[in-house]
Amino acid sequence: MKIYSVDEYVAGLKENCLPQVFIDFRSEHEYQQLHFKNSINTVPEHLFERLYEFPPKTESLAIVVSQLEFQSDKSLIIDFQAKLLGKGYSVSAGIVWHKNSCDFQQLDKISIFETGNVYYNVFFPNPSLKAHLDLIETLLLNRYVSSNSFGSCYTDLQCDSLIPSKTQGSEGLTKNLNILDLGCGCGRDLVYMASRKIFHPIDGAEVRWRCIGLDSLDYCLLKARILALRSGFSDQIELYHAKISANSDHFLPVKNNRNLTQSNIFKFYVSCFPQYSEIDPAVQFYFKSIDSLPKQYHLITSIRFVDRGILDSIDNLLYDGGVVFISTFVQGPNIPHFDKPAPEHCLKPNELLDLFLNKKYKIISNAIEKIEDGRSVNTFIAQKPWP
Ligand SMILES: C[S@@+](CC[C@H](N)C(=O)[O-])C[C@H]1O[C@@H](n2cnc3c(N)ncnc32)[C@H](O)[C@@H]1O
Repeated sequence: MKIYSVDEYVAGLKENCLPQVFIDFRSEHEYQQLHFKNSINTVPEHLFERLYEFPPKTESLAIVVSQLEFQSDKSLIIDFQAKLLGKGYSVSAGIVWHKNSCDFQQLDKISIFETGNVYYNVFFPNPSLKAHLDLIETLLLNRYVSSNSFGSCYTDLQCDSLIPSKTQGSEGLTKNLNILDLGCGCGRDLVYMASRKIFHPIDGAEVRWRCIGLDSLDYCLLKARILALRSGFSDQIELYHAKISANSDHFLPVKNNRNLTQSNIFKFYVSCFPQYSEIDPAVQFYFKSIDSLPKQYHLITSIRFVDRGILDSIDNLLYDGGVVFISTFVQGPNIPHFDKPAPEHCLKPNELLDLFLNKKYKIISNAIEKIEDGRSVNTFIAQKPWP
């Protein structure tokens, strides 16, 4: 690994293929004065709890440290590199930041720097979701464009149209599409959805995703909540702690899985939200059976997770014309075998196709794909029929 000054790195960026994502271990103060765009600013103690914010392991990273710290510990960059290597990440550059080392007069002309406490989403959302999202949004907008009834407020669950945003207050300014992400994990896809800006083809109103995530692991939900907070989309994202069970027609309440209060991310979270309350209980989900819940989603996703307890009920939760997007593990003949997840958590080829064709859905895509570690997933997209 080569070690650069900031000036050398900037010069090298023009000619070489250097990493464009930076893990910046300098103090918050130094980071705010000036940093590379696409940086994650972290203290070393939080590094491992923040890996979910990183890009995929295939992306090479650069490490940034302050010159003062580097002078007192010359092995600093190598130590950080070793920690990240141990987690499967490759670090191909180290940068020692001396505050006088670059010509500040030139900075305006260089678009790779930024000042302030800026957070960058450098993680990648699910690639298949990202690849299909323009199409899904077009399908939904085309479906709802003919409807004039936008509903009187976002809680009007019965209206079969786009829902005015609960945050905007004044109807007509922003409309919402609702997504329910089953097994949302650390919330990367929800944050990506919340960051999308789309415009209504008829009245030009901004349409945003209102994102509802559900997961049985409180630790994942806390991470999701922090990601939403850091990236500025908290008010568009609601997270629920509940379990989907093949043996029950209800979403089940779950107890906290571990004592989160000792984790660094919990401490970070309460420092931002002193009025911290427990992860929202999924009351609105489990007080009725799943099939008696109102249909209120334009899109339901289930990514790298499936539980047969919910598959049949997706239809009930989707608006007419809504879209289901499932991309999860599949096992069967002619598909290379893998050990995890266990077969009961894997689809059979054409299982989704048969289920949704039976319900008269329009099939948008049904593909067997390989994810980064070589396992096979079935990515399935279909649209619910409407009268
Ligand atoms: C492999 S992760 C995928 C997370 C996320 N969808 C993604 O693609 O990054 C599977 C997620 O499903 C959640 N999960 C597993 N079983 C569940 C259940 N029965 N009910 C709700 N969530 C569950 C796990 O806690 C985990 O966060």
